[in-house]
Amino acid sequence: MSTETVTVINNLTGERYELPLRQGTLGPPAVDISSLYQESGLLTYDPGFMSTASCHSSITYIDGEQGILLYRGYPIEQLAAKASFLEVAYLLIYGELPTASELADFEQVIRRHTMLNENLKSFLNGFHYDAHPMAILVGVVGSLSAFYHDSLRINDPRHREISAHRLIAKVPTIAAAAYKHSIGEPIIYPRNDLRYCANLLHMMFATPCEEYRPSLLAERALNLLLILHADHEQNASTSTVRLAASSGANPFACIAAGIASLWGPAHGGANEAVIAMLTEIGRVENIPKYIAKAKDKDDPFRLMGFGHRVYKNYDPRAKILREVCHQVLGELADTNNPLFELAMRLEEIALSDDYFIERRLYPNVDFYSGIIYQALGIPRNMFTVMFAVARTVGWVAHWLEMMSDPNNRIGRPRQIYRGPVKRDYLPISQR
Ligand code: CMC
Repeated sequence: MSTETVTVINNLTGERYELPLRQGTLGPPAVDISSLYQESGLLTYDPGFMSTASCHSSITYIDGEQGILLYRGYPIEQLAAKASFLEVAYLLIYGELPTASELADFEQVIRRHTMLNENLKSFLNGFHYDAHPMAILVGVVGSLSAFYHDSLRINDPRHREISAHRLIAKVPTIAAAAYKHSIGEPIIYPRNDLRYCANLLHMMFATPCEEYRPSLLAERALNLLLILHADHEQNASTSTVRLAASSGANPFACIAAGIASLWGPAHGGANEAVIAMLTEIGRVENIPKYIAKAKDKDDPFRLMGFGHRVYKNYDPRAKILREVCHQVLGELADTNNPLFELAMRLEEIALSDDYFIERRLYPNVDFYSGIIYQALGIPRNMFTVMFAVARTVGWVAHWLEMMSDPNNRIGRPRQIYRGPVKRDYLPISQR
């Protein structure tokens, strides 16, 4: 830890407090305020955690000014171009890229955990046919703790690892089952001879009466999308997982909490919302009307897939996906895809508008991901589910990191109380 300090002066009392600065390997230094309340009786106020580092982490680094994203130090562009999703999962969880034999072992372990307990099927069948697959995913992942309680000793590293493997292996099976349930088709079992992404596509699109062989293009595109979505440091859902885990809750419950947080349109729900928005805009001529709506403070409409809390430059993931959109649509002979045309025009118009320039609002990862998912035949209500499949790896990596941190304490923010001051109870007849 650095010996540099920051001095805080309370102008009301003239008291001074020396607060240590903490510096990571990259990124801005952080003022350590953990002792401030004890020493001064002062709290800090930071709604939305605009200036708060909530933990130490060695998993993912983002430079929002430069548009840089690193997983364990490796640039996202290199991983996206060269790695497989499970290779990236291994990297995020264990900290290093696997050797060939480590990767083969990891793939084998994940493959061996892809099946669901048969009784989970009746749980799935309890959902109404038109339930949103995210609702099913939250519920069924949360219920895993009732089925796999043989690995729930969270203070045992081996139990933690087994739960981690189970989550990474079973969430895709549940995701595909949620989809099958929503279209009234039987659940398709995983196939251990297929790679992770091919298996997910197989579970979604095969039927008991018809084989499904995913194209290499679809498998490659899904692999890339999952890598780009795998982790993003202390975002809302990851922070939710960490907060839930800080109380000692079991990993399945914590990941279910993360899925719930991801669902919102300001977070992972944005990929679904982007396609809904582009469909509503419909034609290039309508773009100015929607840009005006997005700028109007009295209108709740926002350009979905635009803006990011950390990136004040082009989101590097969006840059990759824009390029991949061209490739995927080209290979599918869908080069005139009207939604992609519309998205590119919308981006061009927004990026030349003062409102977006001043606020440094750029397309984020979700601006183009939905177009690729749609081109692969994945239905709109499954986009956020696919995001959750990918992010499960990040959530699990953060959970493991946190559980092995000896300084882990229950997360317990304070508040500025604005309610009534103390008053006496009045009998109902006197109110
Ligand atoms: N359209 C129009 N105005 C926007 C947008 C947008 N998409 N995003 C931000 N702004 C404006 C906002 O109104 C505010 O203006 P002003 O300063 O005049 O009040 C300013 O830009 C700053 O916005 P903010 O809401 O304070 O920024 P934030 O960091 O709290 O929110 C965000 C970040 C991602 C929630 C927000 O940009 C947003 O709602 N974007 C649309 C939803 C979206 O695409 N979400 C996916 C995020 S990336 C993937 C993921 O996290 O899962």
